[in-house]
Order: sequence, then C-alpha cells, then structure tokens
Amino acid sequence: MKKIKLGTSTLEVPSIAVGCMRIHTLSPKELGDFISFCVDNGFNFFDHANVYQLGKCEELFGQAFAETKIKRESVIFQTKCGIVKGDGKTVAFDFSKDEIINSVDASLKRLKTDYIDALLLHRPDILVEPEQVAEAFDKLHSSGKVRWFGVSNQKPMQIELLRKFVKQPIVINQLQLSITNCTMLSQDLHVNQSYTDRAIDRDGGIVEYCRIKDITIQTWSPFQIAQTGLFQGSFIDNEKFPALNEKLGEIAKKYSVSKNAIAVAWILRHPANMQVVTGTTKTERLKDCFQATDIRLTHKEWYEIYIAGGNLLP
Ligand SMILES: NC(=O)c1ccc[n+]([C@@H]2O[C@H](COP(=O)([O-])OP(=O)(O)OC[C@H]3O[C@@H](n4cnc5c(N)ncnc54)[C@H](OP(=O)(O)O)[C@@H]3O)[C@@H](O)[C@H]2O)c1
Repeated sequence: MKKIKLGTSTLEVPSIAVGCMRIHTLSPKELGDFISFCVDNGFNFFDHANVYQLGKCEELFGQAFAETKIKRESVIFQTKCGIVKGDGKTVAFDFSKDEIINSVDASLKRLKTDYIDALLLHRPDILVEPEQVAEAFDKLHSSGKVRWFGVSNQKPMQIELLRKFVKQPIVINQLQLSITNCTMLSQDLHVNQSYTDRAIDRDGGIVEYCRIKDITIQTWSPFQIAQTGLFQGSFIDNEKFPALNEKLGEIAKKYSVSKNAIAVAWILRHPANMQVVTGTTKTERLKDCFQATDIRLTHKEWYEIYIAGGNLLP
C-alpha cells in the first residue's frame, strides 16, 4: 500500500482517504465493520465535515468508532468547518474566529475525541478576515485540539492570503478531481490557445502551486461525473460514457482489478502525490479501490483514459 507524506506535516498517510459524507446510509453495525475493515487494511484516514448530514455523519462515526475499540492514536481524523447551513441548505460561508472554534468543539464532541488530526476550511468565504483565521488556528493548535491545518476548494492567491497571517503551515488543499472533471489538469495542455475555452485557467494554477509549496492535494469525488452537476452519479458502468468504460474495462483487465481501481490509479499516477478521498460505503468496492495503490499506469494508459473520458489533447 502506497503511503504519502502529508504536505510539510510529520504525518505519513495512506494514499487513499476514506470519505465519510455518505456513511449515514449504514447501520451502526455496518459502520463499525466498515471502520474496522479500513483500519485492518491500513486505510486509517477518515475525512469528515461538520456539515455532512448536519453533523449526523460525525456523530454516527464517533459512536461506531468508540465501539470498535480501535486505538485513537492509530487513526487520523480530518474534519472541516466554515460552511453554514440553514434549513438543510448552504446559506453562507464563515471563516470568523468564533465560527471556526465553535465548529471544532462541536466536531470533537460528535467524534468523541479530544483532538482533530487535520482541520480544513471547507469552501472559500468571500468575507474572510485572515487575522481571525490566524487567531482561531492559534487557539486550536495551542490547546491541542487541532494538530494540522489545511483548506479545501481554494485557489493559490486565497491560500497566499491566509499564509500571510496564519502561523501554522497549510498542509492540505482538498479539490474535486475525476477523469470526467479534470480541468485543473487539462487546462495546462491548452496554454494560450485563443480558439478554445479549454485554455481558460479556472483556478490560478493550483496544481503547480501546491507542488511548489508542498501542499498535499486531496481529491474528492473521484468517481463522480460532476460536469452535469454535483452528485449526478458515477461515470463507472454509466451508459453515457461508453468510450471511457470500454477503456477502463480494458486496462482493468490487464491489471486484474476493477474499473474503480483504475479510476483511482489514474489520479494516483499524477506525480503531485495526491491523496484520493473515496466516498463508497461498500467494503467490497473499497477493497477494489485499495488495490489501486499498487498500480502505476504507463504514460500511454494515462492519456488513453484521459481522452476516453472526453478530454482533448491540443
Ligand atoms: N471538500 C469538499 O468540498 C468535498 C465535497 C464532496 C465530498 N467530499 C469528500 O469526498 C468524499 C468522496 O466524495 P464522493 O462520495 O462524492 O466520492 P465518490 O467516491 O466519487 O462517489 C461515491 C459514490 O459513487 C458511488 N459509486 C462508486 N463506484 C460506483 C460504481 N462502480 N457503480 C455505481 N456507483 C458507484 C458510490 O456508491 P456505493 O456507496 O454504492 O459504492 C457512492 O454513492 C466524501 O465522502 C467527502 O469526504 C469533499
């Protein structure tokens, strides 16, 4: 199993993190088995957010984890803050000091732990006052409540603004990436081409920026279509993506794994050493994904999948 260093932190982590946004669909017993399965296989990194099912996912996880009797220090808990919900919908983003601190305190309670290994600011807050973020991070860090900090869905200049004030290193940026939703990679191939929108730089060169600054890119929704909107389903075995599925099937056969494993291996092949955050709640599917960490796609295979996914070469 491939491990990566998490940014400039001292943490060595599996290259696949287990996303917990959909775990509310499991019974307590299934969830306990799911957690044990992950940890037994060395995938001990769990990604949460205060807003997943309005805190229910953290709460269910905290309860189930406590019952597994797995040692807290043998696993990594990551959570996020900064999205504000009202009536179940996102109504604002808030990186103010009190919001961050109160959110972490609530997450700690739900997860039944006294520290979070990594805290991410979930989505950019236009009204961000980085001095307040800095104060919140100082307080959380010095009290031992949060060990490492990161962001999610942020561009280089947004991170630079935070870095001007925040003392702790930003070690993670969690971004959406899948074969069918990879403009952060594909835009780099179309530099300066006036005849195509594919040349539009949508994120300020975030991949290169994170590589230069040693920030680990975590990739969320690795199997989601995304081009037609969030959570429209997976492209795997989806009849709307015949060429992609044919190519994934062909390469999966060569490596004796599933198409899911190849979709994960496609992300892991990027030399930025990204960490894939999966969202499946099925241990069988997760087992397939875990196999991806032993696969290194060739250049040719990587580009064949890229093209089959509807992406173009210049
Ligand atoms: N930072 C952010 O803004 C942000 C946003 C969204 C998510 N996240 C994080 O990223 C994690 C992953 O996100 P995600 O759940 O959208 O990722 P995902 O792994 O791309 O999607 C998981 C979903 O796809 C289904 N799926 C996977 N393979 C399939 C196949 N072969 N056939 C049919 N369905 C298949 C899964 O169903 P089964 O359960 O049946 O396998 C599940 O419903 C989340 O848990 C969360 O931790 C972060």
